Amino acid sequence: MSLDFLGNLERTNMCGELRAGDAGRQVVLMGWVNRRRDHGNLIFLDLRDRSGIAQVVLDHDLTPEGHAKGEQVRPEYVVAAVGKVRLRDQDAINPKMPTGEIEIEATEIRVLNDTRLAPFSPAEEAIQNEEVRLKYRYVDLRREEMQRNFRLRHQITLAIRESLSQQGFLEIETPILTKSTPEGARDFLVPSRIHPGEFYALPQSPQIFKQILMISGFDRYFQIARCFRDEDLRADRQLEFTQIDLEISFPRRETVFGVVEQFMQAAFAAAGVTLSIPFPRITYDEAMRRYGTDKPDPRLPGLTGVRAAFTDADLAALQIDPALPVVALRIPNVGELSRKQREENHPLFDLKKGAKFIDDFKRLAKGFPEAAVKVRELAGASDADFVIVVAGDPAHPIKASDTKFEGRLSEREINVYAAAGNFRSELAKKYADRHGAFRVTEETVAAAHARGPQDTVDGSRAFHPIWLTDFPMFEYDLASGKWVPAHHPFTAPYEADMANLTSDPASVRADCYDLAMNGLELGSGSIRIHRKDVQQQIFSSLGISDEEARARFGFFLDALEYGTPPHGGIALGLDRIVMLLAGAANLREVIAFPKTAKAIDLMAGAPTTVTEQQLRELHIRVARRE
Ligand code: AMO
Repeated sequence: MSLDFLGNLERTNMCGELRAGDAGRQVVLMGWVNRRRDHGNLIFLDLRDRSGIAQVVLDHDLTPEGHAKGEQVRPEYVVAAVGKVRLRDQDAINPKMPTGEIEIEATEIRVLNDTRLAPFSPAEEAIQNEEVRLKYRYVDLRREEMQRNFRLRHQITLAIRESLSQQGFLEIETPILTKSTPEGARDFLVPSRIHPGEFYALPQSPQIFKQILMISGFDRYFQIARCFRDEDLRADRQLEFTQIDLEISFPRRETVFGVVEQFMQAAFAAAGVTLSIPFPRITYDEAMRRYGTDKPDPRLPGLTGVRAAFTDADLAALQIDPALPVVALRIPNVGELSRKQREENHPLFDLKKGAKFIDDFKRLAKGFPEAAVKVRELAGASDADFVIVVAGDPAHPIKASDTKFEGRLSEREINVYAAAGNFRSELAKKYADRHGAFRVTEETVAAAHARGPQDTVDGSRAFHPIWLTDFPMFEYDLASGKWVPAHHPFTAPYEADMANLTSDPASVRADCYDLAMNGLELGSGSIRIHRKDVQQQIFSSLGISDEEARARFGFFLDALEYGTPPHGGIALGLDRIVMLLAGAANLREVIAFPKTAKAIDLMAGAPTTVTEQQLRELHIRVARRE
């Protein structure tokens, strides 16, 4: 069909905003045809724009020309409608549509553009094939759900900016073309044309620059910062993502927590969710003991220590390491599984952790009736609950440090809890939908209350923020048999633990903290090292030589010598926050143009090869093409 020009036609209203009170108004609407129904003399077009949908009626008697065009338009054509708002007949009112009481009696329509047939309709739910959605992202983003996600993202970001600005933060941009940063992932490199053989790195985070801004006296900095990490992608990981990044001079840890709680409350309020503050806190050790992870999800029952249920003879007979924790995990309302179902679960267990599990409770009850009863009792399990016992496996002892420091967990103990914790979250994912095990229920809320005030779960809230503190400074690396840093190397150790840096690294706690929510790590930060002598000491205890430190962070070490104030900060993943609030299962639902799991932008077709000419200019030769 021949297309119309827009001419000097001016839009008067958005489709979604018209109500009964607008009846009688003359309007001009513009948008996409969401659906079209042909009733002979009358043609109905549902016209859609960002704000919603309005029904346009093309009456042959009123506008024969408009009606003739209406016969030819198809879904997703771009149309302008001129006409009058009128009340619908009583029986035509659609209570499900915000504009369901009115319709537009058109006197004219202009067909501004037609369309090729897309492989799916944005008027429908998302199709299963996500690759097709990503290839035709412009069509996919028209869907109501996606439009909602990006409105939400905008509102959240705005609320955070406002809150931080009110709290005295300045937003300052830091370079994208820079030098390698210390977050520990692989860098994306950008070759320099002007300096043959030299490369910029894209920032994994603004870490060093924000610390330098503290040296420069900016006192409170923030940035909604793009970060780049060349790592394997997962549901909660993208190659490029956005951090709410901030740094504060002269802070106590409490200062950082207070700032974050304020803007999180504002961000969640923008999405209609009330978060109560302060957020609960838990130490790393306690989180491992209770949840087997440093990203606790308090909606599920925690782990229970059940060592006391077994006699030494039981443990020997069951081939359980008596020196390590024995824990029960309980998945509510799943019931006893068949052997086949249990076997399907086995690959979900991480055997490398030197732990084993018993999931055949019937068998346990036969051989060790008293222990089985006690385990269920201790774990607070009802007959309908599925219970698994996880314990140290003496047949597969893993190499790890046994070093223990006053009441803290050893690496081996952590491994058993971590194996149980992984298993717990995998099973929860698996059984969540079928059995409601992962949902907040009165039971999970009551259980959380029973576990103490630190663990209070407000059943009316679906979101459970929790601060984690007292992380170990070092982790034992099995491959090299060395203690390696658990965080970036600018994290300050606890002053009280400094003396043990070389003599007993396992005992040193880091002054860093994480924010977790519903089983997801939302943010991570620390009080930093602000003295050069301490920084050098940390580098040397991390086995980073002077030359290496100079080559990687020399400019920063220099800056540290020019009057560095004590400082600290944190960065939260904006995409992850939006994902949680949107109820999405993957970051791709809240990033407009994301990469696939194979790191491809299917719409733009990136990455690609480049011309020989470009390579020559960059002094680069490709050694081998697959
Ligand atoms: P960290 O590396 O823990 O800390 O990152 C902070 C937060 O950023 C988010 N995040 C990601 N989101 C999506 N995709 C990714 N690939 C990805 N990687 C990280 C997470 C994470 O909690 N400079 C320090 C912060 C500091 O010490 O102030 C840092 O970047 O939500």
